[in-house]
Amino acid sequence: MDYKELYRKAAGVMPNAYAPFSKFSVGAALLTKTGEVFTGVNVENSSYGATICAERTACVKAVSEGFRAFEALAVASSGGTAYPCGICRQFLYEFAPDLDVIVGEDEAHLKIYKLNELLLEGFKL
Ligand code: THU
Repeated sequence: MDYKELYRKAAGVMPNAYAPFSKFSVGAALLTKTGEVFTGVNVENSSYGATICAERTACVKAVSEGFRAFEALAVASSGGTAYPCGICRQFLYEFAPDLDVIVGEDEAHLKIYKLNELLLEGFKL
C-alpha cells in the first residue's frame, strides 16, 4: 500500500472522531509489516484527561488483535497538518522505533518522518 492510500484511510475515518470539546478531529491509519491497516480516531471524554488520541487508538486496536510489527502511520486532522503528540510518539516507539510517520495537510502535500527522528532517544526498558 502506498502512503497516499494510507493517508486517505486516515482521512476517511476522521469523521468518526468523538471530539465535542476540542472540535479537533484526528484520524490515524497504522500499516503493519504484513499489510493490514488499523485505523483510529481521537475519543474525548468529559474528564478531559481520559481522552485518547487517534494514533494510540489505532495502535491499541492492532496490538489487541495480535499485530505488533508496524511499517507506517498516517495522520490526518480537521485542522491541517497534525503531528503525533509526545505521548503517542513514546507509545508507538515501544513497538516500532523505525516507523515511517506520514503527516500533511492533504494527500498532495505529505511529509514523511521516521519516528526515531521525531522522538530522539525514546524510552525503552
Ligand atoms: N489529538 C490526537 O488525536 N492526536 C494527536 O497527535 C494530537 C492530539 C487529539 C486529542 C484531542 O482529542 C484533540 O486532538 C485536541 O488535543
